[in-house]
Amino acid sequence: MKVLLDNITKIFGRIIAVNNLNLEIDDGKLVVLLGPSGCGKSTTLLMIAGIYRPTEGEIWFGDKVVNDLPPRDRKIGLVFQSYALYPHMTVFENIAFPLRLKKENKEEINRKVREISEFLEINELLERKPIQLSGGQQQRVAVARALVKSPDILLLDEPLSNLDAKLRVMMRSELKKMQMRLGITTIFVTHDQSEAMTVADKIAVIKNGVLQQYSSSDELYDLPRNIFVATFIGSPPMNIIEGSIQYEGGNLFFLNPDVRFSLPKDLEFVLKQKRNTKDVLFGVRPEDVNISMKETTQDSISWIIDMVEMMGRELLVTLSRGKTILKTLIDREHSPSIGDRVNIEFSGRVFLFDKESGKNLLCEE
Ligand SMILES: Nc1ncnc2c1ncn2[C@@H]1O[C@H](COP(=O)(O)OP(=O)(O)O)[C@@H](O)[C@H]1O
Ligand SMILES: [Mg+2]
Repeated sequence: MKVLLDNITKIFGRIIAVNNLNLEIDDGKLVVLLGPSGCGKSTTLLMIAGIYRPTEGEIWFGDKVVNDLPPRDRKIGLVFQSYALYPHMTVFENIAFPLRLKKENKEEINRKVREISEFLEINELLERKPIQLSGGQQQRVAVARALVKSPDILLLDEPLSNLDAKLRVMMRSELKKMQMRLGITTIFVTHDQSEAMTVADKIAVIKNGVLQQYSSSDELYDLPRNIFVATFIGSPPMNIIEGSIQYEGGNLFFLNPDVRFSLPKDLEFVLKQKRNTKDVLFGVRPEDVNISMKETTQDSISWIIDMVEMMGRELLVTLSRGKTILKTLIDREHSPSIGDRVNIEFSGRVFLFDKESGKNLLCEE
C-alpha cells in the first residue's frame, strides 16, 4: 500500500511537533523516519496509525484519504519500543489477541497464529508467558502480533531500542529480511543513524518537526543537503571547520588562520556562480582524511596528534593545528603517538556549507 503525507502538521498547544511534512512512501518499501529525540517521529507515526489526528494536511493510503478513518479500520500493524505484551497471557494468546477483538472464529485464529509463528520462528514458544522469553523473542512476538491481521502497512516505533547492542544488529537484519519477504510497506522510526542506513530503502531525516532530506542511505552519505544531515549521518561524524573561500591565481582555497586547503576543480566550477559566498563551513569525513607519518621539515603543513582512540579495526586520531581540530580514522598499522607531527591528505569528498543557512553549497537549490 502506497502512503502519502500531504503537508501534515501537528500542533500540541504551543509546540509544533510536525511541521508541513510531505512524504511519499512507495508500495512495499521500508522507509525510516530518522532524527534526534523529540523531532516528531512518533507523532508522525501515530498520525499514520490514526491515533493522532493531523492539525492540518491529508494522509493518503493508496488513492484514499484516511484522515477520518479510525485506527482499527486502517489495516495497520503497530510495534512500539516497549512491546506492550500482555504479561498474564501466553505467547499464543498475545498473538491471537487482535483476531479475538475482530471476533474471528477459533479455527481461523489457530491457523493464522501458527502460520505467522512459523514464519517468525517462534512456534516453539507459543505456550510460554512473556516473562519466560528473551528480549529478542519478545520483540518477535510483538512483530507477530502486529502481522497476524495481515496488515497493509507495518509501523515500527524504535522496535529494537530495548535490545542489547549485539542483538540489535542481528534483529535489524532479520527485520529487514522479513520485510522484504513479505513485501509489506513499512515505516520504521529510529534515532540511530546506523540502524537507519542498514534497513532503509529511503530515509526521511527530520529535525524539529521539519523534513531535512528524503533520500537513500547512499545519497544521504554522499550528498547531504545541509550541515545537519551531514553531521547526523556517519560515525564518527564529519569534521567541520570554519573559514572562508578565496580565489587566488585562478585556484580556489579554503582558509582560516590555521589552515589553507586547495579545493578540487569540480568544487570551483559549482562555486563560480556563488562567488559572493565567503563565510563557509568546510566538511570532510574522518574516513576521508589520510595522514602520512613521514618526518616533515615544512612546519607550515604539519599537524600535531593530540589523541589516539582505539576503535577496533581502526584508530580514531585527533589532530590539531592552532585552534583547528581534525579527526581521522586510520589503519592500526600506522601506530601513531601523541605529539607526533604528520601531514594530511584528503582521499575522499570534501564539502562546503553556507555558514548562515547551513546549506550544502554544492547542492542545487
Ligand atoms: N501528546 C502530546 N502532548 C504534547 N506534546 C507532545 C505530545 N506528544 C509529543 N509531544 C511533543 O512533540 C514533540 C515531538 O515528539 P515525538 O513525536 O514524541 O518525538 P520523537 O518520537 O521524535 O522523539 C516533542 O516536543 C514532544 O514533547
Ligand atoms: Mg518517539
